[in-house]
Amino acid sequence: MRVEANSRTDSETPVPLRDCSPVESYLCPKLTRPNTRSITVMLPAAERTVVVVDDDEPMRLYLSETLTSGGYDCRSFANGATALGWLASGDEHVDLLLSDINMPGMNGLDLLRTVKTVDPSLPIILISGLCDLAMAHGALRAGATDYLLKPVRPADLLGLVSRHVDVVHSKALEAVKEALKRSLGARGASDGNQIAGLLPIFEAIGFKRFETLQHSRRVSAFTLLMARDLNFTRNARGALEIGSLLHDIGKAGIPHNVLMKPGKLNDREWTIMKLHPQLGVDLLFGLPGLERESQIVLSHHERFDGDGYPQKLAGEAIPLGARVFSIADTLDALTSDRCYRPAQSLAAARVEIHRVAGSQFDPAVLDLFDRVGDWEFEAVRKQFPDVS
Ligand SMILES: [Fe+2]
Ligand SMILES: [Fe+2]
Repeated sequence: MRVEANSRTDSETPVPLRDCSPVESYLCPKLTRPNTRSITVMLPAAERTVVVVDDDEPMRLYLSETLTSGGYDCRSFANGATALGWLASGDEHVDLLLSDINMPGMNGLDLLRTVKTVDPSLPIILISGLCDLAMAHGALRAGATDYLLKPVRPADLLGLVSRHVDVVHSKALEAVKEALKRSLGARGASDGNQIAGLLPIFEAIGFKRFETLQHSRRVSAFTLLMARDLNFTRNARGALEIGSLLHDIGKAGIPHNVLMKPGKLNDREWTIMKLHPQLGVDLLFGLPGLERESQIVLSHHERFDGDGYPQKLAGEAIPLGARVFSIADTLDALTSDRCYRPAQSLAAARVEIHRVAGSQFDPAVLDLFDRVGDWEFEAVRKQFPDVS
């Protein structure tokens, strides 16, 4: 697989319909067939109430009718103030709020902030006709649960609402999340503040929807294996490990229907997708001592030939940790099953990675990759298998 600068990597590719793991089912239940033996689906949609707020009447009707057709009980409002008044009356239990961002008077972000002060746990999905860095920041900082870009297809709307409302639990998924929390917490013993700040991001934003948790753990372990012959300090190695674990954290700010789109992104969607490294860095900003981790997050899609993003860095201008990480990320993508193709062997993945040395990857770093034995990579895969 050649990973072009203007194409999505496997880890950015959505999951088409098939029998997927519980993790994938949790992340995108409408695109996958859940394994009913290990998943508990809560109440049926008919018992769920969704509030829709949009000043544009045709859009409001479209959203309400789509949700009603999906079995949800729907209450719709033309502005934030009326919606707030109804919510404040407390007449009905509400399971989710769906709001346009650009509305006269109280906009969607103001509505979100106000509702969150009263009910911090209510899932709130924002909808907008545009997505830029400032808007994505605003939505994330205000605590938006998710984000949809107009136009919104019925399947995207129902899939997203279902994921947040019809809670799907997997014991295996919870076990992996707990294990990750423990490992981050253990590393934080010497720097409690840093980890205290990192854990909520990790739990609430970083891994909630798009990557299998095990992928992140494997990529982190692969990166450390390759970096073992580098003269890194203990702290630098720790930063490499955590930066790798959090590499795609910024995808939390990418609209759901862009992130999970089946098929090729158009130019507008691709521009939005390419915001995620910067968004990730912005999420980590303000947490003390995460500068080196942020370098990995910002630079993980740069290419050695300068054809990557977001900064189009080339050669040694790309931080060394990010150059090591990008091989690990591709190795894991190539050696993992995807819905549209089976996993490649380690030998085939090695050939492919060598093929793009000098363009995608730093040839010098390839030496580090070659020094890691097959059995070591395989041991990592065994330690962190895809959850099934
Ligand atoms: Fe990845
Ligand atoms: Fe990424």
